[in-house]
Amino acid sequence: MASDSLSITDNRTGKQYELPIADGSVRAADLRQIKTSDDDFGLLSYDPSLLNTATVRSAVTYIDGDAGILRYRGYPIEQLAEHSTYLEVVYLLLNGELPNKEQLLEFEEDVRFRTMVLETVREQMETYRYDAHPMGMLLGSMATMSTYYPASRDVMDLESRKIQTVRAISKVATVAAWCYRHTLSYPFIYPDNDLTYAGNFLNMLFRMVEPKYVPNPVIERAIDVLFILHADHEQNASANAMRAIASSQADPYSALAGAIGSLSGPLHGGANEAVIRMLQFIGRKDNVPEFIKNVKDGTSGRLMGFGHRVYKNYDPRARIIKTLADQVFEVTGVNPLLEIALELERIALEDDFFVSRQLYPNVDFYSGLIYQAMGFPVEMFPVLFAVPRTSGWMAQWNEGVTDREQRIVRPRQIYVGEGERDYVPINQR
Ligand code: CMC
Repeated sequence: MASDSLSITDNRTGKQYELPIADGSVRAADLRQIKTSDDDFGLLSYDPSLLNTATVRSAVTYIDGDAGILRYRGYPIEQLAEHSTYLEVVYLLLNGELPNKEQLLEFEEDVRFRTMVLETVREQMETYRYDAHPMGMLLGSMATMSTYYPASRDVMDLESRKIQTVRAISKVATVAAWCYRHTLSYPFIYPDNDLTYAGNFLNMLFRMVEPKYVPNPVIERAIDVLFILHADHEQNASANAMRAIASSQADPYSALAGAIGSLSGPLHGGANEAVIRMLQFIGRKDNVPEFIKNVKDGTSGRLMGFGHRVYKNYDPRARIIKTLADQVFEVTGVNPLLEIALELERIALEDDFFVSRQLYPNVDFYSGLIYQAMGFPVEMFPVLFAVPRTSGWMAQWNEGVTDREQRIVRPRQIYVGEGERDYVPINQR
């Protein structure tokens, strides 16, 4: 008997099976041989919300949730946040290795070359209502890109994939900035390719009448670091949506629209928005104990920005963001909600309810405070998450479509509905 195997006895039949174990997993399809009769479909694994199922083999991002470790292509997030730039990290995520000088310059030039969007994007943007949520506008605008770039349907073509990848990463910043300008009814600002990715993003967001926008270096670097921290996070809900949609060989913009939709929910990328609303609801540091009590009773919902499916330790991104917040607040002034957030964290980290459930601050707990101090309205927060996550989604997409083991995603179900029954005419019901 192989040592790397799992022995199973089916007590229904008394039959024994030996399933190989590789990479700490058994293949769910191997369970299918376990049958009670020839016409039995075979044993299924039931895993609602994929709590314990690996659906891909991926070389992009590594997380050890118990130890609080996050690495892109092997590089610790702390080192990347300290020494790298967002576009260098994007290159790394896409290509697997850090670029040399020429490769980086060429890649930066490639991204810059594509910052412009068609005027039809602007026209579409203008059709959204003045109070449309920017995440909905971003989703719609990215989906429409599939109509502008029909070659994006050639998903098995390497050259087309390379172009769509850079295109999406470049244009998402322009579209995101314009979503913001639309909510203010401000004129759209066209890209300034003299600036860095983060600097140009700030230009398209905030430029008023000055002939040349000059980003504050601290804010520009903070955006760049936040983008590094948000670039990828392996198989989360939106990456899974991206891969699942793309598994039918749909074009990447349609898949991106699905991923953006998934990210928009308050349990995922919408959480940073929910954190600020929660802190505003709490209102004062003195109200924190009462709020925590209500969270524990279940009368105040969840403590937003706390907890994670994978991290059962302090989210390493939250630690970096907390330090970053101090640097940003030196420029913008301290966000008055910080005091409430710090008190919430202090009390929660000492409270058995949160400790026993291993609930620690996640990436969204402090990021919203920074965004708010920079002047963004809360509705823009998930958009600020989606811009850098586009690079992770594209890396996951490229890996997925070239993985020969991947086929169209098609989960099974356990049917619990009625058995066959005859149609009853309406006048007899
Ligand atoms: N506040 C209070 N209780 C919580 C929280 C929270 N934030 N998160 C989990 N719990 C409790 C939950 O009620 C459950 O308790 P019990 O065992 O008594 O029923 C236990 O902890 C386990 O929770 P779960 O819902 O099974 O955990 P999950 O892995 O399904 O959910 C999560 C993970 C992130 C959705 C959840 O922790 C949550 O809702 N957090 C608040 C929203 C949030 O901050 N989301 C951002 C996640 S990080 C960024 C991203 O991924 O986009």
